Amino acid sequence: MKSDATHDVILNPATLPSHVAIIMDGNGRWAKKKMLNRVKGHEQGSQTVRSIVTACGKLGIEMLTLYAFSTENWGRPKHEVKALMMLLKKFIVSQKEELKKNNIRLNVIGQMHKLPTDVQEELDAAIQLTKHNKKMVLNLALSYGSREEITTAVRKIAKKIKSKDLDYKDISQDLISDHLYTKEMPDPDLIIRTSGEYRLSNFLLWQAAYSEIYISDTLWPDFSENEFIEILKNFQERDRRFGKVECSTSNDG
Ligand code: IPE
Ligand code: IPE
Ligand code: MG
Repeated sequence: MKSDATHDVILNPATLPSHVAIIMDGNGRWAKKKMLNRVKGHEQGSQTVRSIVTACGKLGIEMLTLYAFSTENWGRPKHEVKALMMLLKKFIVSQKEELKKNNIRLNVIGQMHKLPTDVQEELDAAIQLTKHNKKMVLNLALSYGSREEITTAVRKIAKKIKSKDLDYKDISQDLISDHLYTKEMPDPDLIIRTSGEYRLSNFLLWQAAYSEIYISDTLWPDFSENEFIEILKNFQERDRRFGKVECSTSNDG
């Protein structure tokens, strides 16, 4: 009998990360290794997205944020950007019913207005279709960059101060968080980056203050549910201290 990876896992639901964010990197290198066009790597990468979204639903992860296209990625060759936008549209069109069926709500963070109109329309339709879903949130970071996000937030706050809707003394960490694309979302507990690069590349810089980080050498198209589960196990063994002395349940100190 074919074994389903999740059947043999022992993951304590109480210590699962509520919010997992993934920097899905390595599509181009995957394609290059196989002497294929980079776009083939992105195509295969979108299959991985499907399998990891399904895995998160099964495992009970409440929020999954996927870095799919950065503000800097607009600087790639035109044909690659076009292919990525087409793949994004294809993904939404083919997956929206599946998301609905699986009780997953779709959300976007980033400059959605910069995406091609047809892509925006499909995203809007899928967001509408899934808006009452409660089991999980799938957050797609599209034309997303933290510096742009923070700059936009500062501008919005400044405007409110100018119109006297806010006083400068009202500026707090919570107020700043409330002006980011991620308002009302918990910070990511775990950030995974594939393809062995040790950097955040302008992803969730504010929100990642106390996120656990895991770097995998696997190229995104090869990333599997099994490896994801191993990473979750690794996360469950970590001691998150948040700047305090220890995270122990004993009172004997
Ligand atoms: C990640 O793979 C996908 C996007 C950034 C859109 P890359 O396309 O960055 O793949 P590499 O890093 O060139 O291998
Ligand atoms: C980060 O990957 C962006 C996404 C995964 C969407 P990049 O490939 O763009 O990042 P760098 O250029 O290696 O830092
Ligand atoms: Mg890359």
